[in-house]
Amino acid sequence: MDFRFNFFPDEDETKEPSAHDETEPKHEHQDKRLPEEKVCIKAAKEHYIPADVSKVLENKVLEKVSGLYYVNMSVVELTCQDGTHGEDIVSKSISSHSDLIPGVYEGGLKIWECTYDLMDFLSEAEIQFANKTVLDLGCGAGLLGIVALKGNAEKVHFQDYNSTVIEEITMPNVVANCINDGSEADSEDDRTDLKPPSKRHKKSVSLPDKLSQCRFFSGGWSEVSQLLLSSSKPCSKYDLILTSETIYNPDYYGALHDTLAQLLAKDGRVYLASKVHYFGVGGGTYLFEQFIEERKVFRSSIVKEVEEGLKRFILEITFKDST
Ligand SMILES: C[S@@+](CC[C@H](N)C(=O)[O-])C[C@H]1O[C@@H](n2cnc3c(N)ncnc32)[C@H](O)[C@@H]1O
Repeated sequence: MDFRFNFFPDEDETKEPSAHDETEPKHEHQDKRLPEEKVCIKAAKEHYIPADVSKVLENKVLEKVSGLYYVNMSVVELTCQDGTHGEDIVSKSISSHSDLIPGVYEGGLKIWECTYDLMDFLSEAEIQFANKTVLDLGCGAGLLGIVALKGNAEKVHFQDYNSTVIEEITMPNVVANCINDGSEADSEDDRTDLKPPSKRHKKSVSLPDKLSQCRFFSGGWSEVSQLLLSSSKPCSKYDLILTSETIYNPDYYGALHDTLAQLLAKDGRVYLASKVHYFGVGGGTYLFEQFIEERKVFRSSIVKEVEEGLKRFILEITFKDST
């Protein structure tokens, strides 16, 4: 399929670089305004893996990146364009030529580059997942949570704003990696057109052990946070929260901050990957750091800087009173 998401569907791209531009921003510290509190409300929902796991991979084409399986998003976009999928985000994002439609579609249909930065950091810093409870917040493809799962995390929960993303992308990716755990994804070079496991497992496939350690949620951050804390199966707080490219919109900072504060364990850590600045939307690393500082709940530090193209950072965030 030949279309490209943009932050600036209506702007002349020659005037201002887009979020995809590899050029350094002229004024990194510009726009230090702190955001006003606005909310993004979308009801929370838990999504359950069907007993016959193979259904999750029906009509999916698998590819591989950094040793992990993920579903080909163009195929998902093609199959979801008919408007029969509740949210209809694929048609909406195509018709608006946009990566993001605030409050409607928040970008989870593609893998954003800071995900790879955070994956690299987790490996370089030898972050341990064994016996930890982990949340992949704003997960999109869910690769960060899958890395945690492969690192023997005790529980991994995935959240995305859009239910379509959870059902058509995140859950299939998790299933594909669990079904194929230890098989060719670990040993072969990256290549496309792998056979989906659904073709190999013609009979119904039961829930592999690792999958039973996962839960999936869609909805706005505040709503998902409430659901997690109040449900009949309330989650314990998370030892690690991994989140990539989730601070582009300053309007959401309040909800994001409070969600982290509600869901992080007392001595837990958040690893947040972000670009220095999101042109056209206004958010970025420094603005979020400033927001955090003013709220006085967390302390944050930059633990990795990626210099190539538009600067990108990994932040480590912990409670001020943590040990
Ligand atoms: C740009 S995408 C990044 C997806 C993925 N983390 C990656 O790096 O590829 C931003 C993600 O943040 C989540 N998100 C953004 N704003 C949100 C909000 N107000 N409430 C809940 N989720 C939100 C969406 O689920 C979306 O997938």
